Amino acid sequence: IKWDQAQRYAPYQSYSPAYLAGLQKQQRQSAWHQGYHIQPTSGLINDPNGFAYFNHQWHLFKQQFPFGPVHGLKSWGHLTSADLNHWSDLGTALTPHAPYTTHGVYSGSALPVKDRLFLMYTGNVRTPAGGRKSTQLGAWMTKNGRITELPAPLIAAPPSGYTAHFRDPQVLKHAGAYFALIGAQRTDRKGQILVYKAPAPTGPWRLIGPLDFGRTTLGYMIECPNLTLVDGKVVLLFCPQGMDQAVCPYPNRYPNTFVIAAGIDWQRAALIAPGPLQLLDGGFDNYAAQVARGPRRESLVVSWMGLPDVTYPSDQEGWQGCYSLVRRLHIQNGRLTQTPLDAPLVGAPFAPLRDKLNLQEKLTISIPATRSGRIRLGNAQEGLTLVVDGTANTLMIDRSQAGVPFAEDAKATRTLHLDPGPHTFTLWLDHSSFELAVDCGQAFASGRIFPRDPTHWRLSCDAALGANISGQRLAF
Ligand code: FRU
Repeated sequence: IKWDQAQRYAPYQSYSPAYLAGLQKQQRQSAWHQGYHIQPTSGLINDPNGFAYFNHQWHLFKQQFPFGPVHGLKSWGHLTSADLNHWSDLGTALTPHAPYTTHGVYSGSALPVKDRLFLMYTGNVRTPAGGRKSTQLGAWMTKNGRITELPAPLIAAPPSGYTAHFRDPQVLKHAGAYFALIGAQRTDRKGQILVYKAPAPTGPWRLIGPLDFGRTTLGYMIECPNLTLVDGKVVLLFCPQGMDQAVCPYPNRYPNTFVIAAGIDWQRAALIAPGPLQLLDGGFDNYAAQVARGPRRESLVVSWMGLPDVTYPSDQEGWQGCYSLVRRLHIQNGRLTQTPLDAPLVGAPFAPLRDKLNLQEKLTISIPATRSGRIRLGNAQEGLTLVVDGTANTLMIDRSQAGVPFAEDAKATRTLHLDPGPHTFTLWLDHSSFELAVDCGQAFASGRIFPRDPTHWRLSCDAALGANISGQRLAF
């Protein structure tokens, strides 16, 4: 298939069931098929959407294009889970159609309201002249999963002074009122987060203004704004595009950033005492993070383990993208920490320095203070390398030799800065990804890798590191 503009937006019915079945089989049989991460059943997934706890289970929707490894005509796929590890795929929930989503059902969020789940999301329409129209739409989902779309947009157009890059609403409730944060671009090409307010989820929605998060504009566009409460603080996550590296250095083409604040003044649309902008993940592939609050008010986050405008080796097999593990957020000593929820996954212990890796395990590597050396996961031909510098207090992650090369216009290494002292690295390996938490999630780095020969991977480690290493197979 040649993925030109017309083909990307071709109606779903134009693909034959046999073609789709072929793509699904390719995904299932891929050597890079993930063992325990959310991935597409076929084609491409990007942003997590509508992450919420509703009717005694977790709901997560995915931006998907089921017919190829490209950003084509997007719909929402629906997943549910009891434990945030084992997910059931319920198929497509929101399908593109005239008049508001002809060119895609774009990202959005979900909020439980009494006995229904409210979905708020963006409708994408491309005009014949190559322009774009974005509307903010709504739908209700009942406890038995029936979805009814509202016939008219909640917000029919961006305010004047803004372009049609106006999307990804997060709907929230505060003090009896409803608020929406929406990613936006001003006509002078500056990125903003707009705040809207309504007496009910169905509206009427009224603009309060651009959110002040220490500044009110950043880069040329802000995507996927998300706000949550973590241990009494407000955490705002968002994806600025085209941000100046001087504001917050970022090695990925597009970063996922966050700010911690003491609170939020909804009337003024301003964070109270916002801290500096930071990266959510110091690794290679992390974007469009979405938060949810659980039944015990805990804050959780899940991200797309991918980036816009990057091609991946799995594209050759007709599929692209996966999600991070769901991570629990906390604030410790003013810092955001992230801990993957893996308890139900933990399986049999093994000896990482002796036994082969099967690329479906959790490794814990503890090292005393000030030690330097290398840790390598791989075979003679390929591998992922971690380089610890106990003098500079850095950890370098090198994926340049980790398999089929990709994203070669960006650097193949990332460097995390560590506090002085002993360290514990926890690594979750899957068939085509790693997630690395440093010192109980004080720093985090994740990325995709595409090994050519995963059957002979082993772990080796410089003796000088004095590492204590344990491993658990992740049974699934
Ligand atoms: C971010 C994004 C969103 C948009 C969606 C479309 O990756 O570009 O801004 O709603 O993806 O799939």
